[in-house]
Amino acid sequence: MSADSADAPAPAPPTNDSADSTDSIDPSAAPRPSDFVRLLRAQRVWDTELPDFAPATTPDGPLPLFEQWFAEAVTAGQVEPHTMSLATADAEGLPDVRTVMLHGADREGWHFASHAGSRKGRHLAARPYAALGFYWPAQGRQIRVRGPVTVAPPEVAQADLHARSAGALASALVGRQSEVLDSYGELERASDAAWDRARREPDAPAPSWTVYVLDPDEVEFFQGDARRRHVRLTYRRTDDTWRKDLLWP
Ligand SMILES: Cc1cc2nc3c(=O)[nH]c(=O)nc-3n(C[C@H](O)[C@H](O)[C@H](O)COP(=O)(O)O)c2cc1C
Repeated sequence: MSADSADAPAPAPPTNDSADSTDSIDPSAAPRPSDFVRLLRAQRVWDTELPDFAPATTPDGPLPLFEQWFAEAVTAGQVEPHTMSLATADAEGLPDVRTVMLHGADREGWHFASHAGSRKGRHLAARPYAALGFYWPAQGRQIRVRGPVTVAPPEVAQADLHARSAGALASALVGRQSEVLDSYGELERASDAAWDRARREPDAPAPSWTVYVLDPDEVEFFQGDARRRHVRLTYRRTDDTWRKDLLWP
């Protein structure tokens, strides 16, 4: 990964700023970057072979291109390409973002799952609109998806959950996501009980577990370029077709 690039400069040794004598301070000198800033500046992006991206040969809609890029991310060894940032806003319009798993993408939209009572669930109840962000650094690719969100029928959410691991079911059975936790011991006790139940009863219902479907009205594909001539292709929904445009990077 580029951040661990072998030819990135080694971080500078730590300094002890408090030991400097005030006599040696040159007031006209620019402030010295901190160790953190030096470390930050030593990191690299797009320090790898990047694929070409020819927007002229892309499909008419974003879904086949998303599927193609996803498969290419897997082939390129991208770690956890099925995780994505999910941005929502509360009733006042204040935003928040967190990582969730992609459960599917099809003609209905991009599917993810969570608890209806969580912060994101409350946001989506107040404002059923969201944005998703995928970043696949193995190929310098980013995909942004935004649009209205609907709730899938409860039986879809339960079937989705029961098709997954005992751990996923146990986690969903614990519930109470985003509530204040009084002590970690309380979570351990709830989790032990949930694991027992998930093993005994693999079809146990987790009523707050909800599948959400984001039906995009805009999807953007970004291909990083070493010379910073990044390619941005956006699909915007117009009635029943998609309009494609390039964007300045
Ligand atoms: C890799 C990864 C995958 C995650 N997948 C999910 C998920 O699919 N659903 C979910 O509810 N939370 C998932 N989480 C936890 C969320 O990031 C978040 O902590 C949780 O949903 C509470 O968010 P909220 O308080 O904004 O509702 C995941 C976290 C990570 C790091």
